[in-house]
Amino acid sequence: MLLAYDDDGPGPVVVLLHGFPLNRTMWKAQQARIGSLYRVISPDLRGHGHTAAPYGIYTIDEMADDVLDLLNALQLKEPVVLGGLSMGGYIALSLIARHPERVRALMLMDTRAGADSTEAALARQELAKQVEATRSVEHVVTTMLPKLFSETTRSLHPDRIEPVRRMMEHTPARTVAGALRGMAARPDRTNDLARIHVPTLVLVGEDDTITPPNEARAMAQAIPGAQLEIIPHAGHLAPLENPSASNEAILRFLSSLA
Ligand code: MLT
Repeated sequence: MLLAYDDDGPGPVVVLLHGFPLNRTMWKAQQARIGSLYRVISPDLRGHGHTAAPYGIYTIDEMADDVLDLLNALQLKEPVVLGGLSMGGYIALSLIARHPERVRALMLMDTRAGADSTEAALARQELAKQVEATRSVEHVVTTMLPKLFSETTRSLHPDRIEPVRRMMEHTPARTVAGALRGMAARPDRTNDLARIHVPTLVLVGEDDTITPPNEARAMAQAIPGAQLEIIPHAGHLAPLENPSASNEAILRFLSSLA
């Protein structure tokens, strides 16, 4: 599958994979700041943003293969820095587990290695059915949106919430259903963490209630040598809610790779 993408900036390649059901514009602040020093490539994952939306289950491995196809199409045979937020993190973990030679460093943001519990997987299947039956993502937007942000973002930066609402509203129902089913079926990658042998940054918003800091800490402890950065005044979308602290943490990590 051909992915739409942004590709800008000088220097070593940093690939950023967005969360569900968002698109590459969530990385606007990173594209601007990190893209002044690095070549930042941010695709729209299958069905999201400007990438075509096929019917069916969007498995995490398939979405990772899409990213690999993009790297190949861009002739990027050298390993890249791979970052992903939440669902993007699941995809990054799939890619490094199956193609470790393509990754020179990893950034796992507001994400987890574990699979869904049986209850969570069933709830996703139900939601997928409902989205398909109504051909609307409205229910997903209204239930998910308030859980994404910290209190600080809600009270001081409501302007950072509206673009996220729009990204979600513009995601087709079949993408939302396909990605929900793909996430419900994703494997538990906890045992893969000890086998990650590239520098890794684990970044999480201090108020992330979806993938909370204690899970991020456990994930960082399981990856040899991983660094943990907890971003203040941020929830599940830390790079978008607190771009300056997130960018500093990311740039510190990237400069340590040189
Ligand atoms: C995301 O932000 O990508 C989602 O919260 C991932 C998920 O639902 O597991």
